[in-house]
Amino acid sequence: MTTSVTTSPHADCVVIGVRQGPEGPVPAPGADAVAEAFGGGLAATLRLLGMTGAAGETLRLPAPAGLAADVVLAVGLGDTAGDAPAVETLRRAAGVAARALAGTRRAVLALPAGTVETAQAVATGALLGAYAFTAYRALPGDKAPVAELAILTTERARADTAAGVHRGTVIGQETNRARDLVNMPANDLTPAVFADLVAETAAGHGLDVESLDDGALAARSFGGLLGVGQGSAAPPRLVRVSHTHAAARTTLAFVGKGITYDSGGISLKPVGSNEIMKRDMAGAAAVFAAVTAAARLDLRVNVTGWLALAENMPSGSALRPGDVLRMYNGTTVEVRNTDAEGRLVLADALVRAAEDAPDVIVDVATLTAAMKMALGHRVFGVMSGDGSLRDRVVDAAARSGEQAWPMPLPAELRASLDSPVADIANVGERMGGALVAGLFLKEFVPDGMPWAHLDIAGPAYHEGPPHGYTPTGGTGAATRTLVQLAEDSAAEEDPAGAAGGRVR
Ligand code: BES
Ligand code: MN
Ligand code: ZN
Repeated sequence: MTTSVTTSPHADCVVIGVRQGPEGPVPAPGADAVAEAFGGGLAATLRLLGMTGAAGETLRLPAPAGLAADVVLAVGLGDTAGDAPAVETLRRAAGVAARALAGTRRAVLALPAGTVETAQAVATGALLGAYAFTAYRALPGDKAPVAELAILTTERARADTAAGVHRGTVIGQETNRARDLVNMPANDLTPAVFADLVAETAAGHGLDVESLDDGALAARSFGGLLGVGQGSAAPPRLVRVSHTHAAARTTLAFVGKGITYDSGGISLKPVGSNEIMKRDMAGAAAVFAAVTAAARLDLRVNVTGWLALAENMPSGSALRPGDVLRMYNGTTVEVRNTDAEGRLVLADALVRAAEDAPDVIVDVATLTAAMKMALGHRVFGVMSGDGSLRDRVVDAAARSGEQAWPMPLPAELRASLDSPVADIANVGERMGGALVAGLFLKEFVPDGMPWAHLDIAGPAYHEGPPHGYTPTGGTGAATRTLVQLAEDSAAEEDPAGAAGGRVR
């Protein structure tokens, strides 16, 4: 799908927003030209046809004569109490509209998008809502996603809208890149294929890539990645992909868990728990997408992504419960449960990432079922040894349209990871398992290195029917949060440049 900016609602379909007013539906700002074409009767028509303006609602109307369109699609914005809708409301409405537009060739979104922020939200919401994973099927009944989306603005607001649409489009497209990777089945997305995809994409976006294959990992004693990968016919990889900006002083390191399939290994997962474990590389997908977005937006910050890629399988060569691994930094780990594999590959990647002395490390992982239990399907947990960094990440998530919640790292739980044979065991106390996992990772981050851990086990994959801009399947969770963190760093370095409104 392409996005553009326009000042005239000329299209196959024009999308308008409708607020849920106390006395019925109210066309939202942006819909003026359409309301005019209805000769003042738009609100009454909407009410007559049963529209209330509730969020998620859509209604299709034939366009009146005088409008250069065939169809008007009204989309609910909910009760905004007369105020401008919240950015996330707008993002979701654009997503609902884009999904309803499947089968349409060209549409104009006449939603309020006259500022950088609102235009960005509308563009991102539309890109995310129009997403469909079609690589593996072509059913005759499947409608093609809307091909062209133009975002309506005024002559006066055109520059701001264009800047917002550019940013929003890149963020939407990169989140969709993460979704594609998550949705790709594990028989086709092995660690080596993932690494090759990164190299191909990087070439087109000015990113640097280094990839360590199993031979190189063995030569440098990456015991965690090798241990987890040793049961699979598809060997592990550690990929470093980086965006550098000549004027940047800050370097962010993003580390992603990239288990292309998690069977559990010898501690095999039961039927019912292994069907969609292709999702277990969602952290690495988000990291890769965020680094690519930072490059495409030319953000004034260095961003290094680390993708810890392996497949966790049971076989004659697989890791056994009770085995002891020697990690990249020399720490020994007793593997009590081979299904706690994410922390093993992340430990190696965290140690390696810290070697480059970045200013901050943020890791992203579908790490524990416990986190999914605690926060559900829409919210990811954020842990850190540094409370203010943790809160900054949670805040960045909210501003990017994602839901995150701060989780603690209680020191008392650390003792449950003690091992009688090694420096540490890979599992400990079951209660609070997400926090125990966080404490395990913390052991591999050097003292004094600012670090945050995002457990996206819940929101990485959506199993139900689509809602808002969220499709069934991979969601791209954490991609937008990571991009926001990079934008925040860039803004700190160059407040004038990042204040918004400038078209690059
Ligand atoms: N990849 C899983 C966590 C997961 C579960 C992600 C459900 C998404 C949905 C992880 O590798 C795992 O198996 N964790 C174990 C750890 C336990 C053995 C300590 C878990 O959470 O059960
Ligand atoms: Mn596992
Ligand atoms: Zn896993």
